Amino acid sequence: MPAVNAAHPSPLDVRGRPLRDLRISVTDRCNFRCPYCMPKEAFGRDFAFMPRDELLHFGEIGSIVKACVPLGVRKLRLTGGEPLLRKELEWLVRGLRAIDGIEDIALTTNGSMLAQKARLLKESGLDRVTVSLDALDDETFRAMNDVRFPVSRVLEGIGAAIEEGLTPVKVNAVIKRGQNDDQIVELARHFRDQPVILRFIEYMDVGTQNGWRLEDVVPAGEMFQRIAAELPLEPIAPNYPGEVARRFRYADGRGEIGFISSVTKPFCSTCHRARLSADGKLYTCLFATEGHDLQTLIRDEDADPARLREAIATIWAKRDDRYSEIRSDDTRDLPKIEMSYIGG
Ligand code: GTP
Ligand code: 5AD
Ligand code: SF4
Ligand code: SF4
Repeated sequence: MPAVNAAHPSPLDVRGRPLRDLRISVTDRCNFRCPYCMPKEAFGRDFAFMPRDELLHFGEIGSIVKACVPLGVRKLRLTGGEPLLRKELEWLVRGLRAIDGIEDIALTTNGSMLAQKARLLKESGLDRVTVSLDALDDETFRAMNDVRFPVSRVLEGIGAAIEEGLTPVKVNAVIKRGQNDDQIVELARHFRDQPVILRFIEYMDVGTQNGWRLEDVVPAGEMFQRIAAELPLEPIAPNYPGEVARRFRYADGRGEIGFISSVTKPFCSTCHRARLSADGKLYTCLFATEGHDLQTLIRDEDADPARLREAIATIWAKRDDRYSEIRSDDTRDLPKIEMSYIGG
């Protein structure tokens, strides 16, 4: 096992990448059925979600995070499924906030329950939220969440997050050709007048259920052109090394947007993210086919902190993933884990 000591606090993977972010999925359930993530045909009434006793308890998640801090983790992101479906999530936030070395705790949510929960999350120590919103037109949005959820309630959630100071509030829009690409400029116009950083995301081939086709991807370059034709843009430097979004500001100084181009311009060479599923498996790539079981280790070994830390260090040291760089016909049919299971 690689030594984990003060001289080597942060192991590098096979490609020289450090571990910095841990993305924690707290449930594989969601109240939306976005076709690019949880299409209704695949995630219907009979779908077998994780049994509740398989979910890591908040204390167990805390133990894993504590083991990750000496390995380099500074940022946490709570994801799902829809993380606000997990009961009393604010207690997890409280626990994570108390861990020394964690500098940033963010939450990715579909915004449907955010208006009710923003204050409690802020009081519990959450730093910021990222809300998924793929359209402003109500009909288009209802079709994209596929449960006919109205756009107005997500906008209320975004408003509450701003009011409570869960900032910077980011909005993520996945764009799928023919479905919501007519919303690109409208979204840009709407959010540039608000304290919100809007990011456009290329539709990706995560999981095996969304029927992904390259023709449905709107390349970030095209999205950029469509916006810049109406609202001139200037590039701005990344906030930190390995930031996935390429950042721009409007030439008139009003607002910031970003593009996440995992299909046309992969960013694997600087990828410093690990993902923890709600049942305690650690994944070293969003497109992984297998995870590493930490739940058994935690439950059988009574979470001996050094063993847990060494196990994670070993997993990271062997990491060689770079799926988005090698995406091809050969990788298309791999049995990849679903995004709702592994977190966004
Ligand atoms: P910040 O901490 O605010 O900088 O967040 P972020 O820029 O890392 O982005 P966020 O967590 O909101 O991720 C936005 C989207 O980018 C996700 O929903 C994914 O679609 C995509 N994404 C994020 N991380 C990865 C990654 O490691 N690989 C790939 N291929 N896509 C990613
Ligand atoms: N392609 C790109 N992003 C996706 N997400 C889910 N499925 C996909 C996909 N196929 C992202 C969305 C959402 C987050 C939870 O996961 O950005 O905001
Ligand atoms: Fe739910 Fe988010 Fe997936 Fe949509 S993208 S189904 S809101 S987890
Ligand atoms: Fe990281 Fe895998 Fe995404 Fe590449 S494809 S950026 S290695 S998560």
